[in-house]
Amino acid sequence: MKIGVFDSGIGGITVLTALRKALPHAEYIYLGDTANVPYGTKSAAQVVKLSLACAQYLKDRKVDHVVVACNTASSLALNEIRQALHPIPVDGVVEPGIQAVLAESAQTRLPVLILATRATVRSQAYGNGLRMLLDAQLQPVFEQACPLLVPLIEEGWTDHPVLHQTIAEYVRPYRDQFSQGIALLGCTHYPWIQKAVESALPGWKVVNSAQAVAQTVVGALKKELAESAEKGRSVEWVFTDPDALPASVRELMEISHE
Ligand code: DGL
Repeated sequence: MKIGVFDSGIGGITVLTALRKALPHAEYIYLGDTANVPYGTKSAAQVVKLSLACAQYLKDRKVDHVVVACNTASSLALNEIRQALHPIPVDGVVEPGIQAVLAESAQTRLPVLILATRATVRSQAYGNGLRMLLDAQLQPVFEQACPLLVPLIEEGWTDHPVLHQTIAEYVRPYRDQFSQGIALLGCTHYPWIQKAVESALPGWKVVNSAQAVAQTVVGALKKELAESAEKGRSVEWVFTDPDALPASVRELMEISHE
């Protein structure tokens, strides 16, 4: 069983880590489109084109299942990817993200803040999805684009003063207005900086949807994997521009090759 996972860069590694814990016997190809990161500042048409190229690469590598470990691609290109890869099953991250917020917000009526790329926010995939399921009168849903975060994370500045200051600017209006709330990391890069987001939003619950994504894939594959005696190998890493990787990610990749 070979699972292909892709993202614009290193963000999808947060999803891959959850997948490997949940499905340790699968074999993985991780594709990071580091030559084209960030996706979140690009037009919808460009995101669709780049996402389809990633999906096609994984199809050519004969994967059995694809996980679009990128909120921007999932918001804007999931239908196109599914059509292009049919009959290979494709899971995105937006629906599990919505479910993770719902699980957290059951009976609390706390405000919900989606932190995401500009393209994801523009698509309103989260806003529309959540407002349909929550009573938006009682539980407001906000979407905040954070375009400066992905370049900082790709640079490896995950605990840098500039990062902390940038997050503080993005969340200030919500923190000033509400002492409690639920903030979803609506970009797979953001779990790399979860601690920094938590310290910028004291009193708020910060939700990382990576596990919810892994559970969705488990639901689709568990039986098949339980029946497979095959032992999974470690991850095959593919980056469209390997030179663009921060040292912290190189270390992580070496560790996972052991
Ligand atoms: N990690 C991606 C996401 O979840 C994309 C970030 C970007 O390339 O802008 O949205």
